[in-house]
Amino acid sequence: MLELVAVSLAAVHFGIPLVYYWYAKTRWLPKPWNIEINDSYTPKVTIIVPTYREADIIVGRLDNIRSQDYPGDLTEIIVVDSGSDDGTADIVEEWASQHEDVNLRLIREDKREGKAKALNHALNYASGDIVIIADADATWPSNSMREAVKWLADPTVGAVSCLKRPNISGPAEVEEGYRHYYNMLRIAESKAYSTPIFHGELAAFRKDLLEEVGGFPTDIGADDSHTAARIALMGYRAIIPEGLWIEERVPRRGYGMWRVRRAQHLIQHFIKLLGEDLGTKSRNKEFRRIVEVEAFLHLVNPWILLIAFSLLLFNAARGSLGSLLMLTVGVVVLVVRMYRVWVLQQLHLLVASLRNLVTRELVWSKQAK
Ligand code: GDD
Ligand code: MN
Repeated sequence: MLELVAVSLAAVHFGIPLVYYWYAKTRWLPKPWNIEINDSYTPKVTIIVPTYREADIIVGRLDNIRSQDYPGDLTEIIVVDSGSDDGTADIVEEWASQHEDVNLRLIREDKREGKAKALNHALNYASGDIVIIADADATWPSNSMREAVKWLADPTVGAVSCLKRPNISGPAEVEEGYRHYYNMLRIAESKAYSTPIFHGELAAFRKDLLEEVGGFPTDIGADDSHTAARIALMGYRAIIPEGLWIEERVPRRGYGMWRVRRAQHLIQHFIKLLGEDLGTKSRNKEFRRIVEVEAFLHLVNPWILLIAFSLLLFNAARGSLGSLLMLTVGVVVLVVRMYRVWVLQQLHLLVASLRNLVTRELVWSKQAK
């Protein structure tokens, strides 16, 4: 009996994301965007670079932004540094004095109170029609600004983000298969209506909408995703298009905890989103469904796997050969990379939700990348 329960739970755990994937791939992915892109749309853009202890990489990042093929006179860069003790702000000041052709403002916060607060601080000074969040540890191909902005020419689009690839080989690269699944979902959700998961490595927003939602939320970690979702709830599209790839630095050490923190911030985001009265707020039925499924996958589904596993373990300990056999199969299949990466992600989510009870980690320690 317990065995049957365990197998059913496992079927739910693996079945729901598989069905969702299949549905997204066959129903949403082939859809047209229904967005009027305009390559010659060149509004004024404010790029906000939040920094905390980025002395090693900030010059490369500023050079990278400067080499964007977007009109320099329509680009404003705001670097907001939260009291880094490694000289980040001084390096930025020095760079600015060497590049007087670049419109750069440096904001020095005395105290570190987290990324979202820093972004809101910078927002007060932003003069662009579009605001793009640009994490220091990302590298953009030179057409990234244009590729993002062209979608925002359509008044139905409120926010645009990117797809990511890791800069080094290592654990992140091993997740190739999982990232394919993940990226496909982001694009398919965007085509259906909007995706509730954004990336701070490149997250572009219409500034009037940012103001309307009251800036970035400071009580959760995934400020970028949450702001995008709020804009989608308001009736504008928040999308990740196919062609917008950027490179992100991944930590060489502490990769697991890095993933746990990100998972934790997504958990906070979905809990907050569910509390925001989706039913009455969401102007789009499809988006409501997307949020509900993603919330389930992040908040509930990992626990179903844990319960199924525990039941089998319990049963096996009581001498059930069937349970032992099923457990063995579950473990042996770990040689399959995609399955292993999936199970690992479930572990990250489980640890993340437990950790969330202890610390929300809105201010996190800097990891070398
Ligand atoms: N001003 C400021 N103040 N900037 C900060 C702070 C802060 O307290 N904390 C972090 N940053 C900056 C970093 O310097 C970097 O440019 C960016 O915010 C992202 O921080 P990372 O330390 O690189 O974290 P990550 O790569 O794991 O970030 C990812 O997860 C975050 C949520 O967990 C990205 O997706 C972020 O966009 C996301 O916010
Ligand atoms: Mn990063």
